[in-house]
Amino acid sequence: MRPLFAFVVLCSSSALGADWIVPGTAWTDMDGNKIDAHGGGVFKRDDTFYWIGHGAANQTPMLYSSADLLNWKNLGPQAAITGLWRPKIAKPNDKFWIFGQQDRYVRSLMSADLAGGRYTAAAKVHLPPSDYTYSDTGMFYDEASSTWHLLTSADHNTLQINKINPDGTVGDRVLAFTKGAYEAPGIFVENGTYYLVVSGKTGWRANPNKVFWATSLAGPWSGGTDIAPPDEKTYGSQNTFELTLRGTRATTHVYMGDAWDAKGGPASNYVWLPIKNKQPTLDYRPMWKLDVRTGEVSYPKTKQYYAADVVGPGQNFTFRNITGTGAPEWLTLHYSVNDAAAGDALIYVNDDASPTNVSTLNSCAGHADAVSVRVKLQAGAVNIVRLGALGHPGFKVFVYGLEVHE
Ligand SMILES: *[C@@H]1O[C@H](CO)[C@@H](O)[C@H](O)[C@H]1NC(C)=O
Ligand SMILES: *[C@@H]1O[C@H](CO)[C@@H](O)[C@H](O)[C@H]1NC(C)=O
Ligand SMILES: *[C@@H]1O[C@H](CO)[C@@H](O)[C@H](O)[C@H]1NC(C)=O
Ligand SMILES: *[C@@H]1O[C@H](CO)[C@@H](O)[C@H](O)[C@H]1NC(C)=O
Repeated sequence: MRPLFAFVVLCSSSALGADWIVPGTAWTDMDGNKIDAHGGGVFKRDDTFYWIGHGAANQTPMLYSSADLLNWKNLGPQAAITGLWRPKIAKPNDKFWIFGQQDRYVRSLMSADLAGGRYTAAAKVHLPPSDYTYSDTGMFYDEASSTWHLLTSADHNTLQINKINPDGTVGDRVLAFTKGAYEAPGIFVENGTYYLVVSGKTGWRANPNKVFWATSLAGPWSGGTDIAPPDEKTYGSQNTFELTLRGTRATTHVYMGDAWDAKGGPASNYVWLPIKNKQPTLDYRPMWKLDVRTGEVSYPKTKQYYAADVVGPGQNFTFRNITGTGAPEWLTLHYSVNDAAAGDALIYVNDDASPTNVSTLNSCAGHADAVSVRVKLQAGAVNIVRLGALGHPGFKVFVYGLEVHE
């Protein structure tokens, strides 16, 4: 059994109508539709962030834009292509390029406009030197050399970094990384040290992602440390990209991960978290946001309710006198389970007739100790929240507490 979670002292943020990055929940765009941009990355141009990823149904490159990394406008499919996994944007010349993986080869697409939806197939890319087949594509722009780099996880457990030439073709191999069975690479750089984040190879199931570091992209690379406590399996996610925001007061590196469903399908969600520096690890918070001007991270105001109990199927733990606002708000449930495959936690708010299976609200349910859900409470300290269990006999939910966020 895990220790009681430690409540952190949360800073307050002044934002009204607060909107937060809530890892693992279903994120919606400005039209209210679920964001469909998996295996993606973020490209910043002027003051706008562009999030590209593949649509879950047929792997078409989908693009979203945002000024604040919170509110995303759907700019639609960007090319008449399907089966292109993990697209990323590069700009090695006056055109915009998408690189992704199709049929285990890298494919590039090109457009004169970043968001016009008119990317056309440029090439099936034969990666030097040996034209292996490839799986996951990643992207890194190195400010030190003003060069875009394509990251790939190749067969034979060789993870590669190749320069992207000024004409958009893939150039010299900078690194052949053969330290293990890794995929889904991303890189960020801090104080002259490059950090390479990779996932293990476990299909759609999350694993403990690792981080390596080097002072040159060519290596030598040290490390292979866990980016999160191994039990957390990267908070139920797999790396796809590292976003760096250099603000007026702080630089924040953001881990972008996919919380895949069992098949990498439309129910897959996203886990984005700030990366703590020094020995890089993910700074897990149920909710957070980034000030895109200053680069600073902030958290909501939170009221905490403690518990220490175990419930099985047919039992409830009851939190009483929970203070609500009367409007939909975020709760974070703190619990763990003995076996995520054996059942799910349930939540009843004010004894509503039908309980909600927490897994339907947050794909981290059962996989992370902090699971955020959006519910409607009544105004005042009058709410009853019951946490129950649904599943096989022997399934157990260890209940630690509840937080209500403003
Ligand atoms: C980089 O340098 C800055 C300023 O010296 C420091 O605050 C920061 O912690 C360093 N980052 C890392 C990853 O060492
Ligand atoms: C758990 O709470 C729900 C909602 O009030 C109720 O229907 C159910 O009977 C409770 N189960 C137990 C074992 O108390
Ligand atoms: C809930 O509030 C009521 C009324 O203020 C109080 O009598 C009761 O002790 C409170 N219960 C808990 C569990 O704090
Ligand atoms: C809870 O919901 C998830 C996601 O929809 C589903 O996979 C799971 O089977 C449900 N659990 C139970 C015990 O019904």
